[in-house]
Amino acid sequence: MRPGFIIGDGAPRLGRRFHLQPRIPFGVFKERTAAAVVSSSRQIDFKDRTDMRAKTAVVLGAQWGDEGKGKIVDVLSERFNAVARYAGGHNAGHTVIIGGQKFVLQLIPCGVLRPGCRGIIGNGVVLDPIAFLKEVAKLRALGVGVDEQLFVSNRAQVILPYHRMIELAAESAPGRKKIGTTSRGIGPAYEDKMARSGLRIVDLLRPELLKTHIEAACGEKNAIAHALFGTDPLDPAQMYDEYAAAAEQVRPFVRDTGRLLNQILREGGSVMFEGAQGTMLDIDHGTYPFVTSSSATAGGAATGTGVGPTAIGTVISVTKAYVTRVGEGPFPTEIHDAVGDHLRARGMEYGAVTGRPRRCGWLDIPLLRYSNQVNGAEWLVVTKLDVLDELEEIPICVGYEIAGKVTDEIPADVQGLEAIKTVYTRMKGWRSSTEGITEFDKLPQEARDYLRFQERESGAKIGMVSTGPDRDQTMLLPEFAAALASLHA
Ligand code: IMP
Repeated sequence: MRPGFIIGDGAPRLGRRFHLQPRIPFGVFKERTAAAVVSSSRQIDFKDRTDMRAKTAVVLGAQWGDEGKGKIVDVLSERFNAVARYAGGHNAGHTVIIGGQKFVLQLIPCGVLRPGCRGIIGNGVVLDPIAFLKEVAKLRALGVGVDEQLFVSNRAQVILPYHRMIELAAESAPGRKKIGTTSRGIGPAYEDKMARSGLRIVDLLRPELLKTHIEAACGEKNAIAHALFGTDPLDPAQMYDEYAAAAEQVRPFVRDTGRLLNQILREGGSVMFEGAQGTMLDIDHGTYPFVTSSSATAGGAATGTGVGPTAIGTVISVTKAYVTRVGEGPFPTEIHDAVGDHLRARGMEYGAVTGRPRRCGWLDIPLLRYSNQVNGAEWLVVTKLDVLDELEEIPICVGYEIAGKVTDEIPADVQGLEAIKTVYTRMKGWRSSTEGITEFDKLPQEARDYLRFQERESGAKIGMVSTGPDRDQTMLLPEFAAALASLHA
C-alpha cells in the first residue's frame, strides 16, 4: 500500500475511485496512527478534485430570496449525503411540505428532513443559539433525526441579544436608512465578525471566555445603543446565564464541519451547498445597501463551508416564474396594481419568517442573466409556475431603459436601479391548470414556450420545474435527471 492511500476510517484505498452507494453513514473521526493522520492530509490530487466536483452542487436563489429553495433542496437532498448551509442565519425561511405537513426551517438545512442525510451549519453562518435550540426541539418533536444528523461549525459566529438590540434601534432611528430587515440581529453579528470582535461557536463553549466576552461587549453595545438611540441597557449577568446554559445544549452538535465535509467528499460522498436569501440580497452583488450582510451567491459556498472552490461542481439556480421581494429596496418589475395582489394571493406571498406581504413583479431577464453570471449557474429551476395559470398575458422584462438607452446592464447604484424604465415583451398565458403536472410535455404549449424563453434568454438550462408546494409536484427534465444520476456513479 502506497503511503497516502489511507482514508477516513483507516481502510486502505485501493482503486482510483471509491464507489459508494448514496446514504452511507460517513464521517466519524476515528483514532488513527500518527502516520495515517499525516498521510491522510496529503491525499488530494487533481483526479480526486475532479471526482469531488462530480459530487457537489450549490443550490441558491436567483432573485431576492423566497424562490422556493426549501422545497427544491428537499427534493434534491434525496441524492446527497450531506446538505450544508453556508451563509445567513435564522433570517431565512425555507418552507417544505411533505405529505401535507408543513415544515419551516430558518437555520437548519432542509437536508435533515431526509433520514440519513447530514445537515451542516457551516462557518459562514451566524447562529443564534436560542433560535437554533428552538428549531432543534421542534424537529425532534416531529421525529426528525437531528441528534444524529445535524452538525454546527465550531467557526460559525454567534448572534447575541445586543445584536438584535442594535439592529432594532438603528432600523427605527430617525435619519437612518431603513433596510426592512428581519430583525434577527444578522447585520450587527456580521459587523462584529468583520470587525474581528465577534464570538464564535468554539468560544461560546468556553464559559470563562463567554463571560468576559459578554461583559465587554455589553459594556460597549449598551453605551452605544443608549447614546445613539436612547435604548435601555441589557443585563450581562442574565445574558451569560442564559447563553452558558444554551451552550451546553449546542455542544453535542459542534464539529470542525469543514474537515467533516472534506472527509465526506474524499470518501466519495456527495454534498449539496444550500444557499439562503438570494443573489440580489448578496452583500457584494445585490442591490446594496438593501441587501443582507452575507455572501448569498455561489462564491459563498467555498468560504462559508471550508470546501475549496476546485471541489465544487455545478450551480443550480432557483427562480420563481415571476419575482418577489420583501423589505425595502429597488425592484424594477414590481407590479403596483390588482395583478400584483392576484399573484400574492395565489402564490401565498407572505414572508415565512416575518409574515410580511411580499412585493410581486414580472420575470426580469436582465436580472436573471446577471444572477446566472455571478453564480456561474448551469441549471435553472423554475418554481411556482402554476401561480401564473389564470393570466391571459404574461409580461417579461427583457431590457432596461436608462436615460433613453436600452441596456441589460444592472446599475450598481440604487439611484440607477430606481431610474430604470422596464422594457417588456408579452407572452400568451395558458389559462389552464398546471398544478401538479410532472412531465414537461404535458404542460400547455404556452407554458412550455414561457419556460423555453426564460432558458434561452438567461443562459442556463432548465433542469426542474415546480408546479405546486408538495415534494411530488415537481418535474425533472431528462438532461438534469441524467446529471443527477452521475452523483451516484
Ligand atoms: P436581514 O438579512 O435580516 O439583515 O435583512 C436584510 C434584507 O434581506 C431585508 O430586505 C430582508 O427582508 C431580506 N431578507 C433576509 N432574509 C431573507 C429571506 O430569507 N428571504 C427574503 N428576504 C430576506
